[in-house]
Amino acid sequence: MADKQKPTSLDAEFYQPADVFFAAHRHLALTYDDVTLATLYSEVLPRDTQLDTTLAEGLQLNIPIISADMDTVTESRMAIAMALNGGLGLIHYNMAEREQLSEVDRVKNHVHGLIQDPIKVMPDQLIGEVLDMIEKRRFSFSTFPVVDQAGKLLGLLPGHVVKHRYAKRKVAEALTPRSQVYTIGKQELDPSPIAKADKFFTDHPGIHKLLVVDDRDRLHGLFTMSDVERITQERNAQFKPARDTHFRLICGAAVSATRNAFGDLDRERILSHVGGLVERGVDVVAVSTAHGHSKGVGDTVRMLRDAFPRLAIIAGNVTSAAGVDYLAECGANSIKIGQGPGSICTTRIVAGVGIPQLTALYLASRAAQKRRVTIIADGGIAKSGDIVKALTLADAVICGGLFAGCPEAPGQTMEIGGKLYKQYRGMGSLAAMKAGSAARYGHSVPAAQKVAPEGIEALKEIAASLDRILTQLVGGIQSGMGYLGAAHLAQLREKARYIRISAAGLREAAPHDVVEVRTEG
Ligand code: XMP
Repeated sequence: MADKQKPTSLDAEFYQPADVFFAAHRHLALTYDDVTLATLYSEVLPRDTQLDTTLAEGLQLNIPIISADMDTVTESRMAIAMALNGGLGLIHYNMAEREQLSEVDRVKNHVHGLIQDPIKVMPDQLIGEVLDMIEKRRFSFSTFPVVDQAGKLLGLLPGHVVKHRYAKRKVAEALTPRSQVYTIGKQELDPSPIAKADKFFTDHPGIHKLLVVDDRDRLHGLFTMSDVERITQERNAQFKPARDTHFRLICGAAVSATRNAFGDLDRERILSHVGGLVERGVDVVAVSTAHGHSKGVGDTVRMLRDAFPRLAIIAGNVTSAAGVDYLAECGANSIKIGQGPGSICTTRIVAGVGIPQLTALYLASRAAQKRRVTIIADGGIAKSGDIVKALTLADAVICGGLFAGCPEAPGQTMEIGGKLYKQYRGMGSLAAMKAGSAARYGHSVPAAQKVAPEGIEALKEIAASLDRILTQLVGGIQSGMGYLGAAHLAQLREKARYIRISAAGLREAAPHDVVEVRTEG
């Protein structure tokens, strides 16, 4: 009987492994939609596949997905949600350095289920003002703790009094007084805050909010019963949160190769900033620039490697084997691959430079294997199938646009023509460069107005929560692995067989000649 595991020689002529396929297409730069993957005999069920990936010693993710270090994608809220789902968020650097340190602090000190900085109201505010705030900020809740100027708890404003008929009344007249509000001391939470809150809600039927206070009765957080219930149900989830050895969520932060007034690398500033991040427990820093195969980026990575020998360093971006060699030699553990594939990028149009993702990933992956570093496919991911293709060559992917419409992304929701949107902008767009990211594109901030932007400012339609988007993406990756008989990511890389597709093949791959009917999930 024929060996079920081995493709026949006829198949092998058409469906080729990476080294044969990319060598045969050396005159053509390819990206995700240019190829498809061939199925293989499988005994692997999608739900049994393992998606964990190690990007550097001590930096392990349970799903190979990272949210981009962009100012419309990743701040602490996104980074917390990514890590809770097993991935990683890279906090962007378009903010003052001390703000970035506090963002990292928030992730590292996040207690699952505890809203650490709940929205509060003051006693002399009018109920009408509270209603305006709910509408403007599109809150889906209407119960708020009431505090004084010093943050001391005065009571709770219950949702049933936040009504237009009471608009002219002051919060102080309508609140449930402090003596009737349920609280728990901050110091009583350890070692298992969720278990404590869960028990409290069981012991107090009808109470849905539990406030956390310190020994001076200042507000430090809020548990809601619905959050706690969701978390207790999620305990059996297949992909566990990504945590460090102290059981804190993992978090990354982007840093730039900042220059001083004389145009030299500002060594002191970079070292003190990264020192601050390390003190706060950051798990990885990403030296993020548009052109990583450059002296400034190499010198920055070298300096950080010398100063922080054990710190995981991501660096980029490059699109060549030589670029990977260079950054690995400088001390990077993981290298970002991608120049111009992003949904808001215009580098290829403006500069005429950049390489379609799959060819870039192939070249980078071969250099990375030799150097024993990992690579991350950055940009251009539009669907889960792209991630599967990327992971046949890379150790993880970075997504920006796919997450920018989520409630966890920074920025306000806006309504245009009856539809809801959030802003999504390239870090090389004029607006983002003015806000600080010019260094990433090799420009100085005051000159940012005069240079050619390499990214656009755009809108994303409001998307589902990050949990739901990741569920879809992870499901797609697991399906792809099932089709290839790959039980884990190393097997996916080993087993992948590619074939080029035509424009007709691409059309055939998407739904066609039907009217789609959607079932709300
Ligand atoms: P996606 O496709 O996920 O891409 O939206 C996100 C990635 O795009 C890169 N990026 C840029 N590239 N000009 C560029 O050429 C820009 O203004 C820009 N901003 C972000 C970045 O690598 C990100 O992770």
